[in-house]
This record gives sequence, structure tokens and C-alpha cells, in this order.
Amino acid sequence: MSRILETEYQQVLNEPELQQQSVCEQEEIDPFLHAQALNNNWQALQSDVNLKGSLQQQLREQIAAEDQTSINQTDLSASAISVVEEAILSPELNKSALDEKLNTLFDRQCRVYAEANIPKMLRTRQYICASGLVISPDHSITTIRDTLRVRAFMRGIDQGLKQLRQRFSGQLHIAYPACGPFAPLLLPLLSYYKQQGLYSSQDITVTLVDIQEGAVMALSALVKAQGVEEYIQEIVCTDASEFKPQKPVHMVVLEAMQHGFSREGHFVLAKHYAKLMVDDGVFIPQQISIGAMLNVAQREYVDQWGEGSEAGSRDAILAERTDLGEILNVNVQSLRMLKERVMDESTQLVECETLGLPFLKENHDKQTLMIYAKVNVFGDEWLGEYESGITHPLPDLQVCINFTPRDARPGDLLVNSGDRLTFYYCMNGLPGFLVTKAVPSADQKRVLTENSLSDSMEACNV
Ligand SMILES: C[S@@+](CC[C@H](N)C(=O)[O-])C[C@H]1O[C@@H](n2cnc3c(N)ncnc32)[C@H](O)[C@@H]1O
Repeated sequence: MSRILETEYQQVLNEPELQQQSVCEQEEIDPFLHAQALNNNWQALQSDVNLKGSLQQQLREQIAAEDQTSINQTDLSASAISVVEEAILSPELNKSALDEKLNTLFDRQCRVYAEANIPKMLRTRQYICASGLVISPDHSITTIRDTLRVRAFMRGIDQGLKQLRQRFSGQLHIAYPACGPFAPLLLPLLSYYKQQGLYSSQDITVTLVDIQEGAVMALSALVKAQGVEEYIQEIVCTDASEFKPQKPVHMVVLEAMQHGFSREGHFVLAKHYAKLMVDDGVFIPQQISIGAMLNVAQREYVDQWGEGSEAGSRDAILAERTDLGEILNVNVQSLRMLKERVMDESTQLVECETLGLPFLKENHDKQTLMIYAKVNVFGDEWLGEYESGITHPLPDLQVCINFTPRDARPGDLLVNSGDRLTFYYCMNGLPGFLVTKAVPSADQKRVLTENSLSDSMEACNV
């Protein structure tokens, strides 16, 4: 019996009712009746909700106190290795197995995070810097649970390293800007490489960069706790978009985006690191294809996920979409070439594609413009729509297609089928796409007139 239970039991025995029982015990009574009486009392005790609750609470506290003991290095790296094995060695995805392993790793990382005693102010600070939103360390730690994203990136990095090994001799330098407090896409791989003897610290060295002091404190603690210090070139607390590494960079690992390629500074950071990376280096992700589509928002965001929506009905809803095409492809070549348009000292834009709005037979005035991203991490490793938080299509509710909103808001763009939309990527503040109506050329005007003529003829049944 645990100490707590023993004490609690003593208290229970001191209850008047039970004391009476104890007195009876001293008299000569039938042992069978005595046992039955005890049993009745025990049942009464068990149904005492307050007592049961207080015992349970004390047990919980005891378990929590025991769990607070320092996480040991073997447990942490064993857990990291088990995640990597599940992610990169199994050719088929077993999501529940990987979820479970990631959860265990996450729990252990959280213990290191708690023990690092990072002041609350540094854990919760969230702000907007020149390149975009800077999420607080407390919020960033959970990104390791984005299972398919973690799997695709680990597999991509592993394959990318194999390719680099064939191209370059000597030590490979990996830069991981905006890595967050746990650098989750790379740190577990280091434990695996170390245990397997695949890459030593002579083969790879890593620079971790994060703008949040709290994230850097967490990283230092985690690297030590995981026993991978020898692989770390430096952990730098700075704005990664201005950072110049000490050594040539062979691989960049970057994931600082949100859905619709919005809000966080991925683009600005990617542009900076694409220029820093050696020719023939590997950029992870290799490309991000961002496109625009139309669908009825209710169908896309509600019906598709509603109870009872089966694969068949999902396919039907996906078939209702109208794909407008790719608006931007982010890869090393495009990042090195894209021309910025400077509007003023704090506003830079990149002009992306111009796409036409088609004439639709159904729901033509109920369409919402949505921006989606597909991430090609490396080789055949892709992260498709809805597979991760970063690939959920983002609606742009300010683009009003074939209708005039009753509650017009500043910034609304009223457009119609036949119009052409030019997409700009805004690099500052909260980054994201800005949609404008393109001025039609003479040819486009002619097609427009023909279309609206045939439309009105159709409408009049001519
Ligand atoms: C959501 S976390 C991403 C973590 C990690 N990349 C991952 O894949 O899980 C975003 C991190 O980027 C960092 N960050 C954002 N902008 C940054 C910048 N300009 N320079 C350095 N770090 C930045 C934030 O401090 C935060 O820790």
C-alpha cells in the first residue's frame, strides 16, 4: 500500500462508524458475520464519492510528482530514433504508429522544455517582425505533432543528404533557419545517424537559427539532453533573414509557413537562403506550388468533412472545384530570379501569375477564391492538400466573384467571370497574396464582349 493510501486508510479507520466496528471486533463475534460487516463497510467506502475523489486526486499528484524526475538522455534519444525509424524505414505510412511515437517524443521533449526554466515572458512572446509573424515558443513546440509533415520532411532530408554525399566530399553544412524550440524536422535524425554510425559530426554540421530567445534556450537544452551536441555548429538567436553563416551551406531546411503560404516569413527567409546556398546544394522543401481555385465554401470546408462524408462524396465535392492554375512556384531558381517591386521602404511585392475567371454554369455567384499549396519536400516526397496544417486551402473572402456583398468592407475586390486576376505576393507585415483585377488587353476585351453577348443570348434563350 502506498504511503498516501495508508494514511488515507488510517483516516478512514478513525471515522466514528468504523471505530464502532473496531470496538465490536474486540467482542466475540462470528468471523463470517464480521467479514460480511467489513465487506459492507468497504462497499460503503467505495461508494463514498468524496473519499474516492480525494484518493484519486492524491494518486494523480503522486504519479505526476514521480514523472517530474529528469528525463534521461537514453530515453530521449531512443524515442527520437524510434520516430525516425518509423518515418524513414517503413515504406508504407502507418499513421497511428507514427502518431504514437511522435507523442512519446513530444512528451519527453516537453519535460526538457519545462526543466529549461525559460521565463514565461520568453515562452509566450508573439509578434510581427520585418518578414512576418513570429510565433511564441509555447505555440511552436507542437509542430512536431503534424505527423505527415514531419514524416515527409525527415524522409526528404535523409534522401537529400544521400544525394549531397555523392556530390560533395568533406563536411556538409545544414542550415535550419526558423527552426523553432525543438527543431523537429532534423534533431531526431541526428540521434538516428549517431546511433547507426551513418553520418558522424565529421560528415555533417548544423546551424540552428531562431529569432526567439526562448526557442534558443529550449534548443540548447534539447541538443544537450539528446546528446547530439557534437553535430551542432552553432545555435543563433537572430533574425534569420539577415544571418550570414560562417561556412558555405549545402542544405537548407526551412518550414516557416502557414496555409495559403500566408502570415509567416517563409518566402523572405527562403529568398535569403537560396542565395546563400552553394550551387548544387539541396533546398528542403525543393518546391512549393501555390495555386488558386474556386469552390463553394460550404462544400469545401463543411460538407466535405461532415459526418458520413465518404470517399465517394468527397471526390464529388473535389470535382466541383474549378482550378484556376498555379500562381507561384517557390524553388531555388525562382527564388534567385524573382524581381521584387518596392512600393515604399516597408512594402515589397513580387508579381505572380495572372489568371482568368471562367464562366461557370452552376453556383456562379457563390464561388470563393481559395489559395492552396502543395509541397514537394524532396524527390517523390510530397505533402498534399489537407495533409498538414500548412497545406489547407485558405479562402480569400475579400474577393467577391459575380456578386456584390451586402456588408461591403474596405479592401473588397469585386470581380466577374471573364475578368483576369493578377496575384501579388506581399512580403512584409503579415505576408500573403494580394489579388488585383488585371487591365484587359484589346484581345481580351473582344473575347469578353463575345462571351457576355453569347451569355445574354443564352439567358434570353435566343
Ligand atoms: C512554427 S515555428 C516552426 C518550427 C519549425 N520550423 C518546424 O518545422 O516545426 C516558427 C519558428 O520560426 C521562428 N521565426 C519566425 N520568423 C523568424 C525569423 N525571421 N528569423 C528567425 N526565426 C524566425 C519563430 O521564432 C518560431 O520559433
